Amino acid sequence: MSLQKEINRRRTFGIVSHPDAGKTTLTEKLLLYGGAIQEAGAVKSNKIKKGAASDFMEIERQRGISVATSVLAFEYNDTKINILDTPGHKDFAEDTFRTLTAVDSVIVVVDVAKGVEEQTEKLVEVCRMRNIPMIVFINKMDREGKDAFDLLDEIEQKLQLTVTPLSFPIGMGYDLKGIYNLFEKNIRLFTGESSKDINKTTSIDDLNDTALDNLIGAESAQTLREELEMVEGIYPEFNEKDYLDVKLQPVFYGSALHNFGVKELLDAFIKIAPTPRPKNAEERLVNPKEKDFSGFVFKIHANMDPKHRDRLAFVKIVSGTFERNKPYKHVRLDKNLKFSSPNAFFAEKKEIVDVSYPGDIVGLHDTGNFKIGDTLTSGEILHYKGIPSFSPEHFRYINNADPMKAKQLAKGIDQLMDEGVAQLFTLELNGRKVIGTVGALQFEVIQYRLEHEYGAKCSYENLNVHKACWMDTKDWKSEEFLDFKRVKSKFLAKDKQGQLVFLADSAFSLQMTQQKYPSIKFHFVSEFE
Ligand code: G4P
Repeated sequence: MSLQKEINRRRTFGIVSHPDAGKTTLTEKLLLYGGAIQEAGAVKSNKIKKGAASDFMEIERQRGISVATSVLAFEYNDTKINILDTPGHKDFAEDTFRTLTAVDSVIVVVDVAKGVEEQTEKLVEVCRMRNIPMIVFINKMDREGKDAFDLLDEIEQKLQLTVTPLSFPIGMGYDLKGIYNLFEKNIRLFTGESSKDINKTTSIDDLNDTALDNLIGAESAQTLREELEMVEGIYPEFNEKDYLDVKLQPVFYGSALHNFGVKELLDAFIKIAPTPRPKNAEERLVNPKEKDFSGFVFKIHANMDPKHRDRLAFVKIVSGTFERNKPYKHVRLDKNLKFSSPNAFFAEKKEIVDVSYPGDIVGLHDTGNFKIGDTLTSGEILHYKGIPSFSPEHFRYINNADPMKAKQLAKGIDQLMDEGVAQLFTLELNGRKVIGTVGALQFEVIQYRLEHEYGAKCSYENLNVHKACWMDTKDWKSEEFLDFKRVKSKFLAKDKQGQLVFLADSAFSLQMTQQKYPSIKFHFVSEFE
């Protein structure tokens, strides 16, 4: 098959939601359609329910599973679908942000009763910033929840989206009768069981037809007619271009648990969701259909087996084809590397693959060559943009607790930071090391992993930091900047890339500093225009 054909049949996306909205359940149901798994319950949820480190350690122990579920690929109606897993737990939000650099679109899952929740807001904001097309799936319609129109209003306001329903519920909770598919103009009735007969729908070309009354009862039919009239009056007509331009977000309703409304979502998804999109490198915009291969590392996963401390680097293919045993340029190291066993991911397993195409993810065994954000190419010098570090929320000094194991500790910290578990800052003044994390949970995870994977012991010491700020100024040699460096020397550190960072100890001191040094711009993100 030609490169263009392979590109056209690929859809690479992520499902984002607040924990418990139903992401895992929906993923599992989508896989059932691809015949990728045979039964429900096959996808292990790798979420952390209680937010406890012990849960995370348990998950780490089952790392085999979480590696396998990092990317779930399946075929459906001749479309190759790649779902990239995103952790819902907020302590791992940065992992999710990075994964979002590798998707071409997302499905946002919202719980009909809980509405828009905190994590949903944050993740949608990131998608909007990155221009990622979004489809909304309102889940748990088998339960009592918010009124359909109220919830659409809430989504528009809290998420700043412009929505248009492509399916509409007939009742909800106990009274859920079915859904009307505005895209295909048919009705699927809700039976309450996990629907096996996924093709059973009834076409309703004319809503005024009495067939509708016979199907769902006169009262429900009348309500549906009125509601659909309102939908038509209030919401813009769906058009693919606006959806792809992130100006319009189609909405679907259903119940993932009952596999209801999922087929409507999937069928529309493969029709409208974008094929692998061009991506900006620092040097130029790269198009997927270019013959030469290029891709970037968006995730690194350490293997659990302490005897083989190899890692798997996840590479999203942006352009051309990636072939086994062919040498590719590791741009940062300026080195050619060959990969004899690149992994492709399928629903429950990974397999060695000879050729992969744009949109696909390959897992490369790595002994320490890769960092998140690295670019691989057929030879051209390209640096893909858009994997910034965000300011951590928690900061602590990290100390060596076993003087005999200083080397192991240094190596362990180095590798865990390459994986993106946390960020390391080295103070300019005295060289002390500071670890910054998104959630407090990561400190325990780092301590556990240093001990179990590297045989090193660490202890932490509190440090009062409000935010890490990356700086930008027109003249790094100006009197003003030099004065800033002198006065604030205690608060300056280098990040892992060697960029200078200001560790502001409070919001107030940051504000004062900004006022005193107006020519310096302070950012909470490491990459800026
Ligand atoms: P997440 O990955 O977004 O965190 O959510 P997950 O799919 O694990 O779903 C969270 C809970 O919501 C699960 O129940 C799941 O069974 C339930 N759920 C998902 N979709 C629906 C739906 O359409 N209707 C209803 N009524 N419930 C739904 P749990 O009891 O927390 O977990 P479990 O013990 O069933 O795994």
